[in-house]
Order: sequence, then structure tokens, then C-alpha cells
Amino acid sequence: MKKALKIIAILIVLVFVVIQFFRPDFTNPPVNQAETLQAAVEVPENVQAILNRSCSDCHTNETKYPWYSKIQPSAWFLDDHIKMGRGELNLSVWKTYEPQRQRRKLSEMCDEVKGGYMPLPSYLWIHWNAKLSEAEIKTLCDWTETGSAKIVETK
Ligand code: HEC
Repeated sequence: MKKALKIIAILIVLVFVVIQFFRPDFTNPPVNQAETLQAAVEVPENVQAILNRSCSDCHTNETKYPWYSKIQPSAWFLDDHIKMGRGELNLSVWKTYEPQRQRRKLSEMCDEVKGGYMPLPSYLWIHWNAKLSEAEIKTLCDWTETGSAKIVETK
């Protein structure tokens, strides 16, 4: 019995070592400043601070990779979140979205945050600093409404 446990422990360590060789590619795609959210809509400093702190890691091409991005399997989850996050909403390529999509994304940003779905709860386990207060949620939502209005005007 003791021997079996030892073998299992060795196998677990071996698997852990081997998966370290399967690291995702964490190179950020280049950012074209002319395509960013900031190039399309006015983003006040307090809103930008919220986006930087709580959303940018998964919704821009300017992800800052945490220490656990160097360790598998946590890096795989991270890779998934970033790919899916950018797929749904990438503030770095905002201007490539049709006006209708921009409007929808703005209102979704407010809804997701209000509902507590964003930032992803698992992100907050480690990035506790990314949690938004009620006041910050209101700031973000108010801005999505004015931003939305602007897209309608310029269309
Ligand atoms: C840890 C990564 C991560 C962070 C941080 C994060 N998101 Fe997301 N976001 C995702 C993923 C993954 C998806 C796609 C899957 C889903 O909807 O759950 C997503 C989807 C979305 C969507 C599209 C939802 C839909 O139903 O179409 C919006 C809007 C969004 N996020 C806004 C935000 C905002 C605003 C913030 C910051 C307050 C934020 N997210 C922070 C990972 C993240």
C-alpha cells in the first residue's frame, strides 16, 4: 500500500514536470492605436483606470501576464480566458466593430459588471484589487451610456 502511494506521487510529479513543456504562446498581438476604443470614444481618466485595473488583461491586446502564466496547468486556463475574452470584446480593435456592435458591447459591459459576471470571479481570487465598488460600477455604466449616445450621433 505504501509503495503504491509512492508510485502515484512520483507519477503526479512526473506529469507536472512534463506539462511544463506545453506552455501557451503569450505574445501580445500588436496594438494599432488608430483602432482602439480610445481612438473612437472619449474615455475619461476614471473610466480608463477601471478598464486598466479590471478588464484589460482579458479584453485588450495589452495583457499583463501574472506569475502563474509561467506554470501549467494554470497557464492553460489563463490562455483560454484571454482568447475567449478577446473574442467577445477586444478594446484594442474596437474601431473594427460595426457601430451596432459597438453599441451592443457598451451596453453589455455595463450589464456584465452590474450582474457581477465581470471581471470573471476566478480572476478576482488572485487579482482581488480588480473588484469594482458600487460607485465604480456606476461610473462605468454612466460612461457606457454617454459613449453609446456618441456612437448614435456620429453614425
Ligand atoms: C480573467 C479574464 C477576464 C476579465 C478580467 C474580464 N473579462 Fe470579460 N470576458 C471574459 C471571458 C472569458 C468572456 C467570454 C465568456 C463569458 O461571457 O463568460 C468575457 C466576456 C465579456 C463580455 C461579453 C459578454 C457577452 O455575453 O457577450 C463583456 C461585455 C465583458 N466580458 C466585459 C468585461 C468588463 C467590462 C470587464 C472589466 C470590468 C471584464 N469583462 C473583465 C474574461 C474576462
